[in-house]
Amino acid sequence: MILVIDCCIRGKNSSTKKLYESYLNTLENKDDVETLYLCEQPIAPLDARTLELRDRLIEQKNFGHKIFGYARQFRHADEIVIAAPYWDLSFPSLLKVYFEQVSVSGVTFGYEKDECVGYCKAKRMLYFTTCGGYLNQKNLASEYIKALAEMFGISNFYAYAVEGMDIDPSKRDEILKKGIERIMSEIKNN
Ligand SMILES: Cc1cc2nc3c(=O)[nH]c(=O)nc-3n(C[C@H](O)[C@H](O)[C@H](O)COP(=O)(O)O)c2cc1C
Repeated sequence: MILVIDCCIRGKNSSTKKLYESYLNTLENKDDVETLYLCEQPIAPLDARTLELRDRLIEQKNFGHKIFGYARQFRHADEIVIAAPYWDLSFPSLLKVYFEQVSVSGVTFGYEKDECVGYCKAKRMLYFTTCGGYLNQKNLASEYIKALAEMFGISNFYAYAVEGMDIDPSKRDEILKKGIERIMSEIKNN
């Protein structure tokens, strides 16, 4: 199963959505895709009450509880696609809230003999973003997501960005189109 984590806050008007959908269109088996639209999910930042419940369940190894649903889904995906616009040198906070839900010791990673070991099945993670300006070789969002993927045991990580989207609004569509063409051919060659 390919798990798509859609954090495209603008919904159907999102350029980042158009970018990742172009990738999904290249897939032979589209039935294998499960998309999680984060804007529609009932998720909130972890608070003291939820954390206490979560810690108790982890201690009891009760990983079947519904609170771990996102983490179980993430662990079992064969490929993970993350799509989020570049916001404030990173990504929308909603995605961080989601990461809090999937970073569960005992489900997506764990500690064994003083070492952190990833338990996720995914062969690779693809991260798509579009940004208003330029990253200048400093995609802080991708560095963070890549480190998280490594912690989860996903060693193949690919980041794809279309840059300079907001500099001249009249060129936005053209920049996106060219960016999509370039990225689709990069993915083909990976
Ligand atoms: C809240 C917010 C923060 C943003 N922060 C950045 C930024 O730090 N760097 C940048 O290059 N563009 C930034 N942008 C511009 C977006 O990255 C750009 O417009 C992107 O293409 C939006 O993608 P979308 O159409 O998928 O929403 C920001 C836009 C918004 C709305």
